[in-house]
Amino acid sequence: MKKIKMAFVGGGNMARALVTGLVKDTRYSIRVADPGEAARAQIAALGDIRVFTDNEDAIAEADCVVFAVKPQIMGQVCRHEASAIHKHQPLVVSIAAGIECAHLTGWLDGYSRIVRVMPNTPALIGAGATGLFAMENVSAADRELTAALFASVGLNVWLEEEALIDVVTCLSGSGPAYFFYMLETMEQTAINMGLAASDARKLARQTALGAARMALQEDGELAELRRCVTSPGGTTEAALKMFASQGMPATVAAAMQAAATRASEMADEFGKK
Ligand SMILES: NC(=O)c1ccc[n+]([C@@H]2O[C@H](COP(=O)([O-])OP(=O)(O)OC[C@H]3O[C@@H](n4cnc5c(N)ncnc54)[C@H](OP(=O)(O)O)[C@@H]3O)[C@@H](O)[C@H]2O)c1
Repeated sequence: MKKIKMAFVGGGNMARALVTGLVKDTRYSIRVADPGEAARAQIAALGDIRVFTDNEDAIAEADCVVFAVKPQIMGQVCRHEASAIHKHQPLVVSIAAGIECAHLTGWLDGYSRIVRVMPNTPALIGAGATGLFAMENVSAADRELTAALFASVGLNVWLEEEALIDVVTCLSGSGPAYFFYMLETMEQTAINMGLAASDARKLARQTALGAARMALQEDGELAELRRCVTSPGGTTEAALKMFASQGMPATVAAAMQAAATRASEMADEFGKK
């Protein structure tokens, strides 16, 4: 079977998460370019992966190139690799937060075989959640290739409008950190109330896992699941009333809005560079 040749430009946290998932899938051969020796060594340790210092060496012959550098330097990196992209004509995938397709096309001298993607770090353990948006002239085959790529590290949702990528960014892109923050707070509170740290950790994390699994099994409203564990006059009700009176829904909404606003600010800040 002919392998699909994947190239990553940038071998940092997100590339490592994706490669960790992909390397188990024998359909792909993987190349990663990164200027940092430590980053290359970490990637190379994941399995049968070729690493490079020069981006063009990774891009050469690639069927698909994933740009996985920080948004701040996407413009500089894309402009530098534009001729290599035109020469080898791969499908281009960008995972940079806040960087729009129009910016990428501009930097890549009019190249438009581009899919913009917002993955998240649970891709590392095959539990990623990814939003995808394809430019108009991206073929059905390229859409399939991108979907298969991100399906090997989790779940995918195609978006009809590019602007919705910012919503995905503030939901699932940044979302893992929101849950970690909540868990940190729950663990610390239990420790402050006298529970051993190791017990607090085990119980809090298993609770998150159990709740997530139940939520995934539920097709309907989550409020129904919440009602099932909330006896009138009971302990859960006391806690939920406190969440509501302290403005938790508004705080979560404001935090997500801040992430989405930051994504569009990044488009303004870094899209022009
Ligand atoms: N982390 C997440 O949860 C997440 C989620 C969704 C999307 N993303 C997106 O994923 C992208 C990467 O984020 P990250 O967290 O993985 O960042 P990161 O850990 O900083 O990784 C970026 C890597 O690119 C390297 N690099 C710098 N200049 C380069 C060049 N010219 N050519 C090739 N590689 C170069 C960096 O090396 P140096 O460190 O030596 O500069 C670094 O190893 C970002 O655009 C971000 O918006 C991240």
